[in-house]
Amino acid sequence: MKLSVFGIGYVGAVTSACLARDGYPVIAVDPNADKVAMIEKGLAPIVEPGLDELIQDAVQAGRLAATDDAAFAIANSDLSFICVGTPSLLNGNLDLSYVARVCEEIGTALAAKDDFHSIVVRSTMLPGSMDATVIKLLEHYSGKKAGKGFGIAIYPEFLRESTAIKDYDFPAVVVIGRLDDITLERIRVLNSRIEAPEFVTDYATAEAIKYTNNAWHAVKIVFANEVGNVCKALNLDGHEVMRALCMDNKLNISSAYMKPGFAYGGSCLPKDLRALRYKARQLDVALPMLEAAAESNERQIARAFDMIAAQGKRRVGMLGLSFKAGTDDLRESPLLEVAERLHGKGYDLRIYDPNVHYSSLKGANLQFVRSHLPHLSSLMVPTPEIVVDHAETLVIGNGDPRFSTALEGMRPEQQVIDLVRVGALGRSAQNYHGICW
Ligand SMILES: NC(=O)c1ccc[n+]([C@@H]2O[C@H](COP(=O)([O-])OP(=O)(O)OC[C@H]3O[C@@H](n4cnc5c(N)ncnc54)[C@H](O)[C@@H]3O)[C@@H](O)[C@H]2O)c1
Repeated sequence: MKLSVFGIGYVGAVTSACLARDGYPVIAVDPNADKVAMIEKGLAPIVEPGLDELIQDAVQAGRLAATDDAAFAIANSDLSFICVGTPSLLNGNLDLSYVARVCEEIGTALAAKDDFHSIVVRSTMLPGSMDATVIKLLEHYSGKKAGKGFGIAIYPEFLRESTAIKDYDFPAVVVIGRLDDITLERIRVLNSRIEAPEFVTDYATAEAIKYTNNAWHAVKIVFANEVGNVCKALNLDGHEVMRALCMDNKLNISSAYMKPGFAYGGSCLPKDLRALRYKARQLDVALPMLEAAAESNERQIARAFDMIAAQGKRRVGMLGLSFKAGTDDLRESPLLEVAERLHGKGYDLRIYDPNVHYSSLKGANLQFVRSHLPHLSSLMVPTPEIVVDHAETLVIGNGDPRFSTALEGMRPEQQVIDLVRVGALGRSAQNYHGICW
């Protein structure tokens, strides 16, 4: 397979060098004459450990060349990577002008080529960009149809500068947003040395995965910094605290809590986050992200209420009331909060939770219910069927396995608001509304 790489920046230079090292002939393309000249001389156009040697070896072996001629590169390759920059505009939006320009050049060159050519985007682009910009322009300028006249995929790059070659060779996961099988198979051939698991999906999802990764990394950094700041004010070593946090691979460094869904609640998280934020305020330490976490959680509760209200029906049924399945703890349950708002606004509400028996509630749990929803006993019913029969709008509040069975008796005119994504329900059903999916 002969390759071309458009854009000799951090991603393009590393991609070109690694593929040439792996034995593929690579043409690197860039309008910047200095970068082209450097590659031609066997020099790395960016500072990156190990890259000078790879480029020098590849150029000397005749496997890597550079040009500013897009048409030449397309005519002399089977697959092209797009690695051009996608910087920020002043308003924060993505600047796709370099992507648009390169698609125009590649599309024009494709019009003059008979062989099936694959285009693989490695630039980071917001979901929808493949459709609205890349494919639209490639089709327009080539006069061919994506997936038939030429191949297309997005293969987001996750390398980090300063460890880029190692990251290229040992990614944690290979994410590919695909359209046609030929291009997918060509990427697989190029990746045959890479042992990482593959995640193949549609291209808009692949675009979103890249952004979600970077947002997550930013959140991790900011979280650790906020922990450090508050620990320093307490005369503690935040590094020690975070070291212990990272030793927990069950709840902390794991996929626990990482599914989109409903608000957190219960007797610990809200209380403990509140106390930590209070302490930080006393110490004059700002914790904007942890403050925002509490606010975001409130908004998720409001979102659930708004979704129920938007159905415009008075008879509401709730399956689940405690903050998670398998407990009767109602303290700070976000579902109790939703029930309280519904009751307060005059909705005709019935609630079933197999773990919550009003007569058995005790201590702080009972106190909490009495102060928040004193009418709870009159709203609770003994079986899920009563709730389903009653409800025009049915809310699935926690992941109790009994709830998906209860839904089998659902009527077509009933609207379902799912806060937990119970397995049996189809996202595509017209009367089904997932809170954030
Ligand atoms: N830098 C990173 O660590 C990194 C990691 C993962 C993903 N990304 C993403 O990869 C993309 C590239 O990032 P980068 O840091 O390598 O960018 P960069 O700015 O270093 O390089 C982009 C290159 O594209 C060239 N270019 C512009 N128009 C062109 C055209 N029409 N034809 C050919 N080349 C053209 C530019 O001259 C430049 O050399 C971005 O979308 C970025 O978000 C970057």
